[in-house]
Amino acid sequence: MSKRLSEAEGAGNADRRAFNALMEACGTAVLAIDKNGVIAMANSNAAKFNETSASELVGKPLIRVTLSADIEQLVRSAIEGGEMRSRTVRFRGPEGRFLRVTARPLTNDGVHEGTLIVAQDVTTLRRLQIVRQDFVANVSHELRTPLASIRAMAETLQDGRGMEERISRSFLETIISEVDRLTRIANDLLTLSEAESRPSAKAGFDFSKLTESVITRFQGPAKRAGITIRANIEPEITVIAAQDQMEQVLVNLIDNAIKYNSIDGSVDVGLRGSPGSIHLTVSDTGVGIAQEHLPRIFERFYRVDRARSRQSGGTGLGLSIVKHIVEAHDGSITANSDFNRGSTFKIDLPTGSADIKERVDAANQNTV
Ligand SMILES: Nc1ncnc2c1ncn2[C@@H]1O[C@H](COP(=O)(O)OP(=O)(O)OP(=O)(O)O)[C@@H](O)[C@H]1O
Ligand SMILES: [Mg+2]
Repeated sequence: MSKRLSEAEGAGNADRRAFNALMEACGTAVLAIDKNGVIAMANSNAAKFNETSASELVGKPLIRVTLSADIEQLVRSAIEGGEMRSRTVRFRGPEGRFLRVTARPLTNDGVHEGTLIVAQDVTTLRRLQIVRQDFVANVSHELRTPLASIRAMAETLQDGRGMEERISRSFLETIISEVDRLTRIANDLLTLSEAESRPSAKAGFDFSKLTESVITRFQGPAKRAGITIRANIEPEITVIAAQDQMEQVLVNLIDNAIKYNSIDGSVDVGLRGSPGSIHLTVSDTGVGIAQEHLPRIFERFYRVDRARSRQSGGTGLGLSIVKHIVEAHDGSITANSDFNRGSTFKIDLPTGSADIKERVDAANQNTV
């Protein structure tokens, strides 16, 4: 049996210990059971899945260890079919993990000797699949709403002989504003997917100057909304980052701080450097975010007050874009808020080390 097992593990003549080390390094649990379903061999990952030691597992029936009808069923169908079978099963435990389990029957001259079982924890992958499904559902919902309203208005205009010009004009204005909204969603989705999938071109630049220029751009709209922007920017803080993406981070945070503020409110933008990092804070004296919403505001399309956000043209993608950009730069973002008093968003970003900066600068100059 042990000879057959080492062949099945793919070790061949190679060192079995090296094989085990490899299996452990890639997080794979390996178990072999005999023809009675009793564990004959287990590696340390199999033991970890079961929060015990490998020697504790050996000698126990598989079903008593896994308590999983799905795994039992998989093993039986592999034996009956005489071939390898795989499936994803939900594994016990409070967090509900998912395992991709493969069962391969072991035979010697056509006689069934046991089964090799290989399992991989695919919980993260599974969660990502769920996030993606939710995302697709959200996107279709977000697109359907403006599309339905455009269609209804267009149909009314089509049948609207004798309609007052004032009314038809207001319908057309709504159609244009809904089309603008769809364009914004499409642009934001593109930005988000770029931030997620494409490594951004990084170069050294003056973050202080960029922050000041974004603040200047917002002074007009802030004034019209009766809001004061105050800046406390340490000069000449340089970083290695994607400048266009950092500009988006600043724009999104300052835009939110103005948009979700109260009349006569204020926005404070602070920037300071410390060795190896920069720290940006954007605080406002606005509506705030209730504690139960705070953990979710970085999710795509999540809006605390849908009506308010929609009224101001929001798509609910701004903060998820910010988070992706910051994390793609190895930084972190946190949000604190007092409901009805205001919110503070903090970003810590590594500056990138000086020698890398010099090399990036030199490479940039060579490409001009
Ligand atoms: N400074 C803030 N104060 C209060 N609530 C905020 C603040 N920033 C964000 N929020 C809440 O978090 C939600 C998500 O923000 P996000 O920036 O992702 O979307 P949005 O502003 O609604 O739309 P977009 O930024 O795409 O135009 C907002 O709808 C709002 O409810
Ligand atoms: Mg926003």
